[in-house]
Amino acid sequence: MNEIERAAESLRTGGVVAFPTETVYGLGADARNEDAVRRVFAIKGRPTEHPLIVHLAWAAQSGEWAAEIPETARRLMQRFWPGPLTLVLPARIDVPRAVTGGQDSVALRVPNHPMALALLRAFGGGLAAPSANRFGAVSPTEAQHVRAALGDSVDHVLDGGPCSYGLESTIVSLLDGCPQVLRPGALPLADLRDALDEDGIKLADLTASAPRVPGALAAHYAPATPLEVHSIETLATRAEVLLAQGLRVAVLRRNRDLHGTPTLPLVPQFLLPAEPEAYARGLYARLHELDHLAFDRLLVEAPPVDEAWWAVNDRLARSARGSWSKGGLRGSN
Ligand code: TXA
Ligand code: MG
Repeated sequence: MNEIERAAESLRTGGVVAFPTETVYGLGADARNEDAVRRVFAIKGRPTEHPLIVHLAWAAQSGEWAAEIPETARRLMQRFWPGPLTLVLPARIDVPRAVTGGQDSVALRVPNHPMALALLRAFGGGLAAPSANRFGAVSPTEAQHVRAALGDSVDHVLDGGPCSYGLESTIVSLLDGCPQVLRPGALPLADLRDALDEDGIKLADLTASAPRVPGALAAHYAPATPLEVHSIETLATRAEVLLAQGLRVAVLRRNRDLHGTPTLPLVPQFLLPAEPEAYARGLYARLHELDHLAFDRLLVEAPPVDEAWWAVNDRLARSARGSWSKGGLRGSN
């Protein structure tokens, strides 16, 4: 038996398997097995009313989970699956409510990663899989992040190397008339809008109130190191203030020419690419790495306020709030 077959066999008997996807690593269990799903919640420390995404090998399996698949959903599946788009649809009555957090809707996605697809095909059914991190913490983009956070509580960790997007999927609800973005993510909004435009369909107003989604909790995706987001102009002053308090400060900024901005004091600087996709790919890995270095404070240069940066800005804002709501205590989540 190879590794994938062993993992699939474990899933069939109620096991929990961490596996790579193109977005982040997932923590999968048989979505039809309520005990296995409950184990996923327990391992993550996640409140049980927060629904999980059901991962499928093929779009054709959607009908086993969704009570109804509107034409718009079919088109989006055709266009973007396999890929980093999650669709929220009305759930069939037989979908375990442990998976949907008690809601009458279900989130579906066909991931675009060879190992995830091999596992899904070998298993044959739907895998309920949240990101493979402790609840509220930064998502894993490498197998070692999963091992460090969840260790022996997981039956298998499949290692597929670093994730190619590094940021969670974009979630779109098709429960009401207009498709509505519930979570910005790896699929750029512009691509989604273009695809919908071709069919004369509009996205719901992005500021419209979204259904209850835990990813929408203000504090989420938080590193252990207290994190602040500042413009490059105010970063230097802020660093000086913190240094004067005797704190160990690090700066995380975009790799570009800082000509014309105030000179930063002598603190360790870490760089991420200047472009949004590459920045997103490296962000979580950097945050994991910086947590190991145990700085007292991480000052992050605010990316541009621009739609292409929406998902990154969203995660940074939540990380900042999350790191503070934990009182800046390392490993407290
Ligand atoms: O990229 C991703 O989406 C990754 C990989 C592993 O696929 N998964 C992921 O799962 O990010 P998780 O559990 O960390 O986030 C799933 C999000 C949550 O915010 C959850 O509330 C939302 O999906 N969700 C799931 N079912 C839903 C539903 N029925 N209605 C609204 N939101 C739902
Ligand atoms: Mg998550």
